[in-house]
Amino acid sequence: MQLILIITFSAFLILFLSTTWLKKNRKYESVNSVASSYDSWTNDRLLENLWGEHIHLGFYEKPRLKKDFRKAKVDFVHELVAWSGLNKLPKGSRVLDVGCGIGGSARILSNYYGFDVIGISISQEQIKRANELTINSDFCRFEIMNALDLKFDKGSFDGVWSVEAGPHIADKQKFADEMLRVLRPGGVLAVADWNQRDSLKYPFNFWEKFILNQLLIQWTHPEFASIEGFKKNLLNSPYCGSSVEISDWTKYTIQSWNESIYEGLRRPHSILRLGFKSFIKALREIPTILMMRWAFSNGLMRFGVFKSRG
Ligand SMILES: C[S@@+](CC[C@H](N)C(=O)[O-])C[C@H]1O[C@@H](n2cnc3c(N)ncnc32)[C@H](O)[C@@H]1O
Repeated sequence: MQLILIITFSAFLILFLSTTWLKKNRKYESVNSVASSYDSWTNDRLLENLWGEHIHLGFYEKPRLKKDFRKAKVDFVHELVAWSGLNKLPKGSRVLDVGCGIGGSARILSNYYGFDVIGISISQEQIKRANELTINSDFCRFEIMNALDLKFDKGSFDGVWSVEAGPHIADKQKFADEMLRVLRPGGVLAVADWNQRDSLKYPFNFWEKFILNQLLIQWTHPEFASIEGFKKNLLNSPYCGSSVEISDWTKYTIQSWNESIYEGLRRPHSILRLGFKSFIKALREIPTILMMRWAFSNGLMRFGVFKSRG
């Protein structure tokens, strides 16, 4: 307990110094700021060493379930595939992974489900790393591309998949439009994202606004959609061919925030071997992770999943 308090205090101190005194924040300015944040998070290997090849939350069937964090992330992919109906597509179906990170999901979609997958990310370093990590590259390829300007024809894909990319994208309507434009009629859309509470129904108070602002500026997010708001974006798209179903998976994913911190205690060598600078960088993430945990457990943030047929 004492150790956790010391780590938390040091992390808040470092956050304060790095954001106010050193003026090093990671505020969203344009799509380029997202690209450079991920380039740097990829190059220093901190995220990958600590949390593995998936940059998303894990799936826990029950609260406080003992499960390896990396296994929970793989489980998350299978759960979203099953919930969205992507597993009904035949082998060889073309699937686009929008905001693919270093390809964790894309490789499962290709190797386990037999899909022909293209992953796109705005970060050139992530695409380089995704290619390095991919053995079966004939059916799992990666390209640098902006999700708001997909270089594919209308209806090119049988499935479109996107996990935790939306909060980095300012124009949510265009994000929805582009994913649905490249999806063929009858194809499967599967999206999972961090969302804020619907402020039209339940406006934010002063502290909630403060926390939300920190969550935006610390990890290069322009704004969060609400689950209801993004559902409307999908339905309002001229390319939307059917109904949109949503679900709130906060209870299945919330444990991931604690696990993100415990993972550093379980595998300290994964940070320490990267040097002192990485250790400081890792500490700096703790306040944001704790704020995320707080926001998700108090209903300020919600984990939304979305599915539709093109
Ligand atoms: C939290 S990571 C999730 C990565 C991956 N989906 C996963 O689950 O491992 C967010 C991803 O969205 C990508 N991204 C953010 N904005 C983007 C944009 N405008 N165009 C393409 N990719 C974008 C980032 O480069 C990063 O790969």
